[in-house]
Amino acid sequence: MGRNAPCPCGSGRKYKKCCLSKIDLEPAELKRLYAKKYKIRLKEPADIKGIRSAGQLVVETLDMVEAEIRPGMTTDEINTLVHKFTLKNGAIPAPLNYRGFPKSVCVSVNEVICHGIPGERILKDGDIVNVDVTPILEGYYADANKTYFVGTPGPEAQKIVKVARESLKRSMSVIKPGNTIGDLGWAIQEYAEGQGCSVVREFVGHGVGFDFHEAPQVPHFGRRGEGVTLVPGMVFTIEPMINLGARHLTILEDNWTAVTKDGSLSAQFEQTILVTDQGFESLTPYDL
Ligand code: MF3
Ligand code: CO
Ligand code: CO
Repeated sequence: MGRNAPCPCGSGRKYKKCCLSKIDLEPAELKRLYAKKYKIRLKEPADIKGIRSAGQLVVETLDMVEAEIRPGMTTDEINTLVHKFTLKNGAIPAPLNYRGFPKSVCVSVNEVICHGIPGERILKDGDIVNVDVTPILEGYYADANKTYFVGTPGPEAQKIVKVARESLKRSMSVIKPGNTIGDLGWAIQEYAEGQGCSVVREFVGHGVGFDFHEAPQVPHFGRRGEGVTLVPGMVFTIEPMINLGARHLTILEDNWTAVTKDGSLSAQFEQTILVTDQGFESLTPYDL
C-alpha cells in the first residue's frame, strides 16, 4: 500500500493523510476520531487494568474447566462449574439472560459451531467441546474460549482443533498499529482454507470491555489492508470458528445453537486482545 494511494477506508483521501496518519495522533484525539467514525471505544489505562483482571478470571475459569472435563459428564455440569466459579470470584456470568440466552456459559460439542446451550448432552470419549467464558468483573467484560478433547481424540478431532488453534495464533501475530482488521481475517482465511478447512462467516470477533459486544466487528476472513486500521487502546476478540467440512451453518429450534450444515466437526479458540504501541497484549492470555 503506497502512502499516496487512496485510503482503503474509502474516505477518498490519500492513505498517508487518512488512516496511516492516525497512528501518530494524540491519544485523546484518536479516541474522539474512533468514537465518531467507527463507534469504537478506545480503552484508557484504568479500563485496561479492569479488563485484564476480568481476563485473568476467564483464564482461571478455563483452567478449572479443563481439569474437570471427562467422558460421562453433561454440558450442564460445565455450566454449574462455571456459574459457581464466576460468582465465587465476585463476577457475573455475562451470557446468563443475554438476549435471552438461558445459561451462564456456551458449551459447543463436535458439530456445534458456537452458542451451544448447556443441557443433558453427555460428553463421550473422542468428543471435542468448546467452552466460551465471559465474566463481568467490576463492570468490565473479558471473553475467551478454548476447545478441549474429551478422553482420546481421533484424527479428525486432532486436525480441526490444531487448525482452529493455529488460526487464532496466526491472526494474533499480525496485530500491531497500522495493520488492519482485514489483515487479521486474511491471515486466518489463508491458513485455514489452505489446510482444506473452512471459515464460518456468520459470527465474528468484536470489540469488548465496557460491553459484551462493541464495535468493531472482526471477521475471520477478508483481504489484506481492508477495514479499520488498528490503533493502541483498541480491545477486541478474535475467535475463528473453523469447520472440517463446508462453512455453512444451521441454527437449531432453540434459536441459539449453531451447527455445521454438513454435520462436520467445528472448533474455535478465542482471546481478548489489546492493541499496544508496539504490537498487542492478550488480556486473556493462555498458550496456543
Ligand atoms: N461468548 C460469545 C462470543 O464470543 C457470545 C455468546 S452470546 C451468548 O461472542 F448469549 F450466547 F452467551
Ligand atoms: Co466473543
Ligand atoms: Co466468547
